[in-house]
Amino acid sequence: MTRRAAIIGHPVAHSRSPLIHGYWLAQHGIDGEYGRCDVAPDAIDGFLADFAASGLIGANVTVPHKEAAFRAAAELDSVAAALGAVNTLWLENGRLHGANTDVPGFLANLDAAEPDWARALGEAVVLGAGGASRAVVYGLLERGIDRVVVANRTLARAQALRDQFGPRVLPVEWRDLAGRLNGCRLLVNTTSLGMKGQPPLDIDLSALSPDAVVTDIVYVPLETPLLAVAKARGLKTVDGLGMLLHQAVPGFERWFGVRPEVTAELRALAIADLAAKGQLR
Ligand code: ATR
Repeated sequence: MTRRAAIIGHPVAHSRSPLIHGYWLAQHGIDGEYGRCDVAPDAIDGFLADFAASGLIGANVTVPHKEAAFRAAAELDSVAAALGAVNTLWLENGRLHGANTDVPGFLANLDAAEPDWARALGEAVVLGAGGASRAVVYGLLERGIDRVVVANRTLARAQALRDQFGPRVLPVEWRDLAGRLNGCRLLVNTTSLGMKGQPPLDIDLSALSPDAVVTDIVYVPLETPLLAVAKARGLKTVDGLGMLLHQAVPGFERWFGVRPEVTAELRALAIADLAAKGQLR
C-alpha cells in the first residue's frame, strides 16, 4: 500500500517539503506520497488526536502547529521534549511519536558547509529569541559551545532562554550587540529581518574575527543582505536552505525506511524553485 506523509501547517501552499520528499521518493523508487495538509488552528487538536484517521503514516509540522504537535505526541524525543515543539510525527504501534529535527538540521547544515565551525569555538552570537532561536541555542549548547550570547529586540525573550537553558546563555540588549561582535567567530541570525518583504538586518560586521562563520536561517531570499555583506567582507557564509534540507532527513528515514542524502542535485532543485518564484534575491 502506498505510504503517505505530508506537511501539516496553516498555510502550507508555500512549503518546499513536498519538493524535497518527492525528490527522495523518486530517487529511491519508493511507493510513497508526500502532500500538503492545511489544518486550521481550531481544527488541529482534533486532527492530531485521531492522526491515524488521516491515512498518513507520519508528517512534518510547521507554523503554527509545532506546539500542538508537541501536546499531541504520546512519545517525544529528547529535543522535542526540551523545546516543547515537534516538527516530525510518526505512528508506531498506533502511538503518535514526535521529534524535533530543526536542531539536528541546523547543526548538520553547518557541519556540511563548514566542517570546522565548532572547533575551539568558545562563544557564539545568536540574533533573535523566538522559536527558531530556541532550537539554535539548544543545538549550540548541545554541541558544547561554552557560551551563547542572545541579542534580541525584546530583552525579556532572551532572558527567558537563559531561564530555560541556564547560565551559558547570555542575554544582551539589541543596542549592546555591537560590543559583543568583537572577535565573534559564529554569528547566527534567527530573526525575520532580511526575509523578503522585511527590513534588512543592518549590523556592522567589521569587528568579527576574519575566520568567522555567518549563517542565516532565513532562506527567502537565499542570499540575505546579512550574508551578502558577510561574503563581501570575505567571511564564511552558510545559507538557511541547507537547514531546511537537512531537517527533512530523519522524517523521511522514519516513514520510508531509507536514510536519504542532501545531494547537490536536491539543493539545485530547491534553488531552481526559489528562482522560479523570484525568491533568490
Ligand atoms: P520564529 O518562531 O520564527 O523565531 P518569532 O517567534 O516571531 O519567530 O521571532 C521572530 C524574531 O525576530 C524575534 O526575535 C523578534 O524580536 P522580538 O522578540 O523583539 O519580537 C525578531 N524581530 C522581528 N522583527 C524585528 C525587528 N524589526 N527588529 C528586531 N528584531 C525583530
